[in-house]
Amino acid sequence: MVLVTGGTGLVGSHLLLKLVNDNIEVRALYRTNEKLEQVKKIFGYYSPNAKTLFKKINWVKGDILDIPSLESAFIQVTYVYHCAAYISFNPSDFKLLERINREGTANIVNMCIAVGVKKLCHISTIGTIGRPISNEKATEETEWSRQNANPYAITKHLAEMEVWRGAQEQLQIVIVNPGVILGPGFWENGSGTFFKTAFKGYPFYPPGGSGFITVSDVTRSMVDLMNSKITGERFILVAKNLSFKEILRHIASTMGKKAPNKELKMWQLQLGKFGDQIRNIVTGKARRITNSTIYGLQHPTKFDNSKLKNALKFEFEPLEEIITFSAKLFTEEHS
Ligand SMILES: NC(=O)c1ccc[n+]([C@@H]2O[C@H](COP(=O)([O-])OP(=O)(O)OC[C@H]3O[C@@H](n4cnc5c(N)ncnc54)[C@H](OP(=O)(O)O)[C@@H]3O)[C@@H](O)[C@H]2O)c1
Repeated sequence: MVLVTGGTGLVGSHLLLKLVNDNIEVRALYRTNEKLEQVKKIFGYYSPNAKTLFKKINWVKGDILDIPSLESAFIQVTYVYHCAAYISFNPSDFKLLERINREGTANIVNMCIAVGVKKLCHISTIGTIGRPISNEKATEETEWSRQNANPYAITKHLAEMEVWRGAQEQLQIVIVNPGVILGPGFWENGSGTFFKTAFKGYPFYPPGGSGFITVSDVTRSMVDLMNSKITGERFILVAKNLSFKEILRHIASTMGKKAPNKELKMWQLQLGKFGDQIRNIVTGKARRITNSTIYGLQHPTKFDNSKLKNALKFEFEPLEEIITFSAKLFTEEHS
């Protein structure tokens, strides 16, 4: 039995679809019924048999911070994909980030060891990959530093440390470090916000850029790594390094919207940070522009994807198709 945590999220729902399509017996953790409806919606994007495929999943209600619920979820489990995490760049969310990302991952690692799971695939982020001082690309070996890291990256680093601790305790593990994951349906966070921004036709784009990958490449590489003999390794998952200008212009043109053509200046970002702080105080809405996000925009990193390519003879798919597919779905759902 394969267990997927975070099955109601962007990566988890796509991973579940892949596993049930491959006829793998799969169990998935969920927290609320509302999120199960979201999974059905995602399956419906890809298959006319969404309901049948959804029913193949053995859903178990649970929380990675609730050990008794994990004990039920882990019965007869041999392989685990740990996709559950909390994503927020809001400094005041640090305690919750630390609990879900580090403590939750420690619980998953401990359960894997306790029940003798054969292999754990943990999904981390490029935020835990170091930034080279010179212009060269970052690799899996580039040393990471907490300095200037955002709270999410810090807690994902701590989560990885828990997985490495599991490896020391003889657990077979593999870690993937994806860049921004492009995929449909989760419009309020991650890459979804790029579609939302492009749709509004804003003239501005932020400086800098990042590494990007399709959600299907993420799930395919996770399954391939799980099925391989590879253990005790981490892999950068980036198909292409792009500036935010390039990705936003691409999405905007796919949507038939005006492409952004004005780069946000440093003083505008600082002003935005100030406005964001006020909004946070007045409305309680999470902060999105912080010192660490501004630092990241000013110091973009390029990522080297050759380790995965060489290890699995993996060919990354181009980003165009998923951008077109997601842009079409976004437009349909918001017109
Ligand atoms: N999206 C990206 O661009 C990106 C890039 C790099 C790395 N990653 C990593 O990829 C993984 C998946 O990300 P995603 O984009 O799929 O995130 P997502 O859409 O926000 O999904 C997060 C998942 O984690 C679950 N979760 C959160 N707290 C939990 C808890 N205490 N117990 C059990 N489940 C919990 C959520 O459940 P609910 O639905 O109940 O909230 C949801 O299923 C994460 O580890 C993330 O750090 C994502």
